[in-house]
Amino acid sequence: MCGIIGYIGKSQAKDLLIDGLRRLEYRGYDSSGIAVRDNGELCVLKAKGKLDNLIGKLEERSFSGTCGIGHTRWATHGAPDELNAHPHLSRSGKFAIVHNGIIENYKELCDMLISQGYSLRSETDSEVIAHLIELGYDGDALKAIQKTVKLLKGSFALGILCADENALFAVKKDSPLVIGSGEDGIYIASDMQALLSKTHEFLLLESGEMAKITDKAEIFDFDLRPVKRQVYVAENDKSDADKHGYAHFMLKEIYEQPEAIERTLLSQGELSFLDGIGSIHLIGCGSAYHAALMGKYIIESLTGIRVHADIASEFRYRNPIIKPDDLLIAISQSGETADTIGAMNIAAGKCKTACIVNVPLSSLTHVAEPMYTYAGPEIAVATTKGFTTQLVNLYLIAAKLLSNKGDSRVNELMTELSSLPLLVENVLKTVSPVKLAFLLAQNDYAFFIGRGADYAAAKESALKLKEISYIHADCYPAGELKHGTISLIQKGSPVIAIATDKQLLSKTVSNIAEVKSRGAFVIAVSPFDIDACDALIKIPYAKYVAPLLASVATQLLSYHTALVRHCEIDKPRNLAKSVTVE
Ligand code: F6R
Repeated sequence: MCGIIGYIGKSQAKDLLIDGLRRLEYRGYDSSGIAVRDNGELCVLKAKGKLDNLIGKLEERSFSGTCGIGHTRWATHGAPDELNAHPHLSRSGKFAIVHNGIIENYKELCDMLISQGYSLRSETDSEVIAHLIELGYDGDALKAIQKTVKLLKGSFALGILCADENALFAVKKDSPLVIGSGEDGIYIASDMQALLSKTHEFLLLESGEMAKITDKAEIFDFDLRPVKRQVYVAENDKSDADKHGYAHFMLKEIYEQPEAIERTLLSQGELSFLDGIGSIHLIGCGSAYHAALMGKYIIESLTGIRVHADIASEFRYRNPIIKPDDLLIAISQSGETADTIGAMNIAAGKCKTACIVNVPLSSLTHVAEPMYTYAGPEIAVATTKGFTTQLVNLYLIAAKLLSNKGDSRVNELMTELSSLPLLVENVLKTVSPVKLAFLLAQNDYAFFIGRGADYAAAKESALKLKEISYIHADCYPAGELKHGTISLIQKGSPVIAIATDKQLLSKTVSNIAEVKSRGAFVIAVSPFDIDACDALIKIPYAKYVAPLLASVATQLLSYHTALVRHCEIDKPRNLAKSVTVE
C-alpha cells in the first residue's frame, strides 16, 4: 500500500528519496513521485507505473535540494495515473503533501474548498489536504497543519513540505509512519525496513501525533503539546532485505522457514494472556485469516475450547458477540492491516486482547499484548514464512492451553513442534514440483480441497496460487464439492487435494475418486500413498503439524507455476504488502 519517504539533512535529497522508494516498492504501488525544496521553491516530479519511469524522468531534469518527500501510490480514489500520483501541491505551490490512508470526509472538504474558489486537479481524496493547509496558513506551517488535521476524518500518514521553511513535517493518524535519525540527516518512512540501510535509531510516532523536523525532530500531539519520545534502536536482522542469490524474495523466504520457525519456537514467553479465558476469537485478513481458520481446527480439536475464526473486515461490522472472559487474538504479519486494527478496536475494553504480529512495535502491538513471530523481514508480497510462523504460535497456544489443563498430550505436541524445523527442511529438500508446475501453468483455473485443518491449508494454497500465478483457484471442504461445484469438473480439471489427517483420509480419498471419475487431474499433497490420485506430492508424516508441511509444499508448487508463467512473483499486480486502508 502507499509508501512515504522524507528526508532533511546535508545531502542531496533526490537520490535518498529514490533509494527509500525502492525499499518501499514491496508494499505495492502503481505510480510514484517526489518533491524537493530548492531555494524556497517546491519542485515536483511524478510518473505512472514503475519507479524506473520516475528515475527516467529525473535523468532529464536537474533536481537539487536537501529536503524532500517521496511517495509510492497504490490507487484507491482515482485512476493510477500521473495526475493522481503524489506529491500533491497546494494551489499556490507553497505546500506539497504525500499521504497514506483514506480521507473519509474528502467530498465535504472538496465542496468547502470549491466554495472558497479552489479547484481540484486530481480525483484523489488526498489533494484537499494540501489546499486546506494553504488555506489555514498565516506564516506558521506547523499551525496550519495542525488546523488541517483537526478537519480530517479517516486515516492519514502525511509527509509535508512548505516552500517558506527548511523543515520536513510528519503527521500520523491510524496509518504507519516512523522517524529515523541517520548520520547525514533525518528521515521519515512508512516502515523501519525502508530506512535500515541508513539508521537503526527511530522515533516511533503514535497515532494522533505530528512532528516538525529540522536538524532535530520535535514531536507534538494534535493540540500542539510537545511530546517526549525515547529513541528505539532496531535490531540488526540477519535475514535482511537482500535476495542472497535467490531469484526472488519469495523463494528466499520459503527457504528461510526452518530458521524462522525455530526462532519463533524458542522465543516465546509465558503466554499469561491465556489464563482463565472462555472462548477465543481469531481474526485476520487474507493468509492471516487462513492461519486463524487453521488455528480454530487445531485449538478446538486439541483443547475443547471454543474458537471462532473471522475475517477482520467482516468481524468489525457484524456486531460480534464478545463476552468479558473471551480472548480476541488478531493475527497480522505487518501489524498494520487497517481492518485487523479496526476489528481489534471493536474488542478493546470488552474482552482480553492479544496479537500475533511479525513487525516489531507495529500498530497492533500498541493496542494488544503481542506474541511475536520471529520470521524476520518479509519482502515478497505473498506471505510464506509470515504465515507458517503464525501457525507455530497457534500450535504453541494450543500447547499452553493443554498444559493449563494438565493434559499430557502437551508433551507429544511439544516434541513434534521441536522437530518442525527439520520436518520443514525435509519438505524443502524433497518436494520438487517443477513438472507439476508446468502442467498447472497451462490452466486458467484450479480447485483445492481438504478436510479439517487441511481445508484451511487448502484455502491458503489456493490464495498463494491465485495471487502470484494469476490462475483462478477455488477452494472447498472436500465433502462440499458435490453440492454444486462438481458440475465444473471436466476432463483435465486440476484438483489439488490436501490429505494429511489419518482419521479423515478415507473420506478425502472418496472425494478424490468422485472428481477423478469426472475427468479431473488430481494432485494429492499427503504423507500417505494415495492410489486414486494422478500425482502425489509426498510430505513427511506428522500427527499435528502436517497441514503446515502441506502449506510449505504448495508454496513451492505456486512459486514454480508462477515462474513458468513468467509472472512478477515478488510484486503481483494490484497487490500491496501492507493493506493500511479498509
Ligand atoms: C497473501 C497475503 C495477504 C496478507 C493479508 C494480511 O499472501 O500476504 O493475504 O496475509 O493482507 O496481511 P497482514 O498479515 O500483514 O495483516
